[in-house]
Amino acid sequence: MKALIFRETGETKSVLELAAIPTPAVAPGEALVRVLLSPINASDLHMVRGRYGYQPALPASPGIEGVGIVEAVGAGVQSLVVGTRAVFVDTWNTFREQIVCPADKLVPVPDGLDDSAAAASYINPLTAWTLTLSSHNLKEGDWLLQTAAASSVGKFVLQLARQYRFKTINVIRRREQETIIRNLGGKEFICTADEDLRARLQELTAGKGVERAIDCVAGELSAEIARNLAPAGTMLVYGALSSHRQTDPSKFIMPLFPPRLIYSTAAVRGWWLPRWVPSQPLGEVGQRRAIFSPCCRRASLRRRRLCGIR
Ligand SMILES: NC(=O)c1ccc[n+]([C@@H]2O[C@H](COP(=O)([O-])OP(=O)(O)OC[C@H]3O[C@@H](n4cnc5c(N)ncnc54)[C@H](OP(=O)(O)O)[C@@H]3O)[C@@H](O)[C@H]2O)c1
Repeated sequence: MKALIFRETGETKSVLELAAIPTPAVAPGEALVRVLLSPINASDLHMVRGRYGYQPALPASPGIEGVGIVEAVGAGVQSLVVGTRAVFVDTWNTFREQIVCPADKLVPVPDGLDDSAAAASYINPLTAWTLTLSSHNLKEGDWLLQTAAASSVGKFVLQLARQYRFKTINVIRRREQETIIRNLGGKEFICTADEDLRARLQELTAGKGVERAIDCVAGELSAEIARNLAPAGTMLVYGALSSHRQTDPSKFIMPLFPPRLIYSTAAVRGWWLPRWVPSQPLGEVGQRRAIFSPCCRRASLRRRRLCGIR
């Protein structure tokens, strides 16, 4: 079978290659799946560059989600039959034609969900759901600030905000992104291209500061938000887009302002989906996956276009 693999870490263009590798054997409790689609996430690029929270033994394939068809099951597997269409949960190496994984890491896909939507129905939708409704435990009327609000995760957050009636302050870096946010029901914006972040945060929170934030930019932007957290406020940092493609060590630093953190007893905490998923029953993970299908499809198609895939 064919697989996209990397033998050493580096920029994708230099180190990713299409290789022919043997189809793995299926052990008891496992399933062999033919991969139909696997989206490209920022984490795949981090992994190839050697900067991700999990680095596989090399050679390996990137890919942390996707949809496929079960082609064979090992002894003792009761939950799946050959021909089942399923998404991978907590499974690595999906940029290959076939993959063997534990059968209990496959969630069958409902008929109404097309392949494209199903392939992208795990990482970003579940991240948005867990950050907002579980980790931040947002209730109707609560406020949440999010950075990179026009990102795929940000758009899922906006859909959840509409459904669960929490309110959002959306930080964007280009004025054109305002339309995307408005179309998804977001009303408050801070555009860092032409607005003063600190002044706008003070204005939007009536000087009280931000109670809850989710951030995937890190660096100077996130440090400024941390400096404007409300007493006992919390910011969950789940990405570091400001460090993408950077090699300067200073770009990986987030310069926090200790007096503000100390006297407001605010918290800045890291957040990573692969740490959350193994702590949950698979049923919970699977249930949260299916609610976003139309937006999953749009996000997935956009990704494929960005990567030049037809
Ligand atoms: N911790 C976890 O478990 C977890 C799970 C899922 C995702 N993530 C992370 O979440 C982030 C978003 O992922 P995604 O798939 O939703 O991204 P995406 O759809 O590719 O969107 C990226 C967005 O971020 C903006 N952006 C990029 N660099 C920026 C910067 N330096 N400053 C401000 N805005 C910037 C882009 O704006 P432009 O359009 O102007 O380029 C774009 O709107 C990634 O860092 C990803 O690794 C983490």
